[in-house]
Amino acid sequence: MLATPSNTPRKILVTSALPYANGPIHLGHMLEHIQTDIWVRFQKMRGHDCRYVCADDAHGTPIMLRAQQEGITPETLIERIGQEHRADFAGFGIGFDNYYSTHSAENREFANLIYQRLRQAGHIATRTIIQAYDPVKNMFLPDRFIRGECPRCGAKDQYGDSCEVCGATYSPTDLKNPVSTLSGATPVEKESEHYFFKLGDFEAMLREWTRGEALQPEIANKLDEWFNAGLQDWDISRDAPYFGFEIPDAPGKYFYVWLDAPIGYMASLKNLLEKQPAKLSFDDYWGVDSEAELYHFIGKDIVYFHALFWPAMLEGAGFRKPTKIFVHGFLTVNGQKMSKSRGTFIKARTYLDHLNPEYLRYYFAAKLSNRVEDIDLSLDDFTNRVNADLVGKVVNIASRCAGFINKRFDGQVSAATQLIHDGKNLHLVFRDKGKTIAALYEAREYSHAIREIMALADIANQYIDEKKPWVIAKQSDREEELQRICSLGLELFRILMIYLKPVLPEMAAKAEAFLNVPPLQWQDCGEPLPQHRINAFTPLMTRVEKDKIDAMLAAEVPVISTAKESGEPAGASATPIQSNPIDVTIAYDDFAKIDLRIARIANAEHVEGAEKLLKLTLDLGGETRTVFAGIKSAYAPETLVNRLTVMVANLAPRKMKFGLSEGMVLAAGPGGKDIFLLSPDNGAQPGMRVK
Ligand code: 2FM
Ligand code: ZN
Repeated sequence: MLATPSNTPRKILVTSALPYANGPIHLGHMLEHIQTDIWVRFQKMRGHDCRYVCADDAHGTPIMLRAQQEGITPETLIERIGQEHRADFAGFGIGFDNYYSTHSAENREFANLIYQRLRQAGHIATRTIIQAYDPVKNMFLPDRFIRGECPRCGAKDQYGDSCEVCGATYSPTDLKNPVSTLSGATPVEKESEHYFFKLGDFEAMLREWTRGEALQPEIANKLDEWFNAGLQDWDISRDAPYFGFEIPDAPGKYFYVWLDAPIGYMASLKNLLEKQPAKLSFDDYWGVDSEAELYHFIGKDIVYFHALFWPAMLEGAGFRKPTKIFVHGFLTVNGQKMSKSRGTFIKARTYLDHLNPEYLRYYFAAKLSNRVEDIDLSLDDFTNRVNADLVGKVVNIASRCAGFINKRFDGQVSAATQLIHDGKNLHLVFRDKGKTIAALYEAREYSHAIREIMALADIANQYIDEKKPWVIAKQSDREEELQRICSLGLELFRILMIYLKPVLPEMAAKAEAFLNVPPLQWQDCGEPLPQHRINAFTPLMTRVEKDKIDAMLAAEVPVISTAKESGEPAGASATPIQSNPIDVTIAYDDFAKIDLRIARIANAEHVEGAEKLLKLTLDLGGETRTVFAGIKSAYAPETLVNRLTVMVANLAPRKMKFGLSEGMVLAAGPGGKDIFLLSPDNGAQPGMRVK
């Protein structure tokens, strides 16, 4: 049963998970931010005081290492990435009230305060632990920076904490022949004192909180499993070198990134209230007696942090707990996990370079529910759905009516009373559906809301089909009727745009301009359009074109890597993309299998629709190969012809979107215009083996 959402103004604070500041925003992040943004826009349209805050998650080892690799400070890196993230979210119409950074004065203050309160209350313990240490890099190694052989099945090249072959979980010190992926050195074991948060102190509170209304049923069940497994102390400190906040009473020790990440929600709100004083104070939101509602939207991979550590930290430090945590599943693309090697790891920017962001907002809305299910972006379905629903149904209503009103009646729509009393009382039917649709938005049952809205769009189109304004327009004595029919058509379109506005803010703004009305609010569905003059009709949305989708996919050149897929979950909380450290080491025997040959570039040409690829014909001294190489940003094809390069000649052929690629050309450099092909001379001949 859906609750009817309240009409009295509510005070609401909403967050999306904080993206890591070391990688681009991708469509997995967008699933969560679009889900959140729709909910926030709905609440705002209903007249509630709803604030939406987020930030970049700026601390941790991967960020530190990436900055080192780029030869810049972490501060410079996170500033640059922060700008990119902001631009990407703005491109998708995500209406944050504030987007901040966890590397901020406010966050340091809250992190210290929460830690000190926890410590005073006896919830922090210290213990010496033994950890893997890289003697070359002089740093402790997080599990994922260690690889070696699985202690159970012997599989090679497994991560420090689990085996992808047999599923064993273990500690990195159990790996056989471990190596640091940062330096290739064999890690040594080293002792260090660590700080722990005693999660078990909060078990009773957490059990009770879990049984309340805060969690979806499937998540509450998951928590039961965790309770049964026992709540362990949580290691919240990391040793220098680390990019983060130093623990106040522990020089050389830093808060683990996951300690100050959720505190970043508070810091972003504090910063918002400093910049934009409001009726509500910080304590109105976060004090123990707060009457405000607090909601966190997150992906299913970070439930432990948000449903156990976070409420326990808040409770222990004298702050209120979240009202609810809304968990969503991951995004798949064409039925599979987003994958760099398949070229389906689609960055937000790449999407925006090719397609209208509102297509994706609509598509996600049409698929999202309040359950923790994965959502598939099937690109054919995406095209059909957007074209059929938005262009074929919704825009169609307006375009069928607007022409007559503008040309025949100088833009004047009929008086409201005439609309209400027309035929089947369609206006009332549309208006009354508003309650159901609002309840569905409130419950995050967007796909159901969209079904209801599209059913209304069908009714509006049927009405126009039945009335046939194009026939009436030919009969000079039926002018008034023509005006009334088309006015009602536009009124029904207006109501549809109210219902769709949380999903399609940009299209709604265009509709407001065309209908010549102030920004639509939810309650505006009660009062029909007054008799007034509308503006000229401009296309509110155009069809999704397949070649744009192809161009988007082509722009995400598959990254062919000897490393395993890094396995980014495509939720909001992708594992940070690690571009710096050496991911995988290979044994000499593996290396010896690589057949490197000198190749003459016999021909090089552009590939239609591909932004980064060139098609190379390589002469191996008697044999020719076709290779697609992502070096277009660095080389004009004509400058390559007859140059020599080195290729991997025995790479298994790979079917790419543009054809079969039969090998790989070796090139190196920082990227962009600086990718250098090796051009050996000194008597090098095509086909010669490189030793
Ligand atoms: O998993 C992630 O991507 C984290 N950066 C999410 C942090 S959410 C919050 F706790 F800050
Ligand atoms: Zn194994």
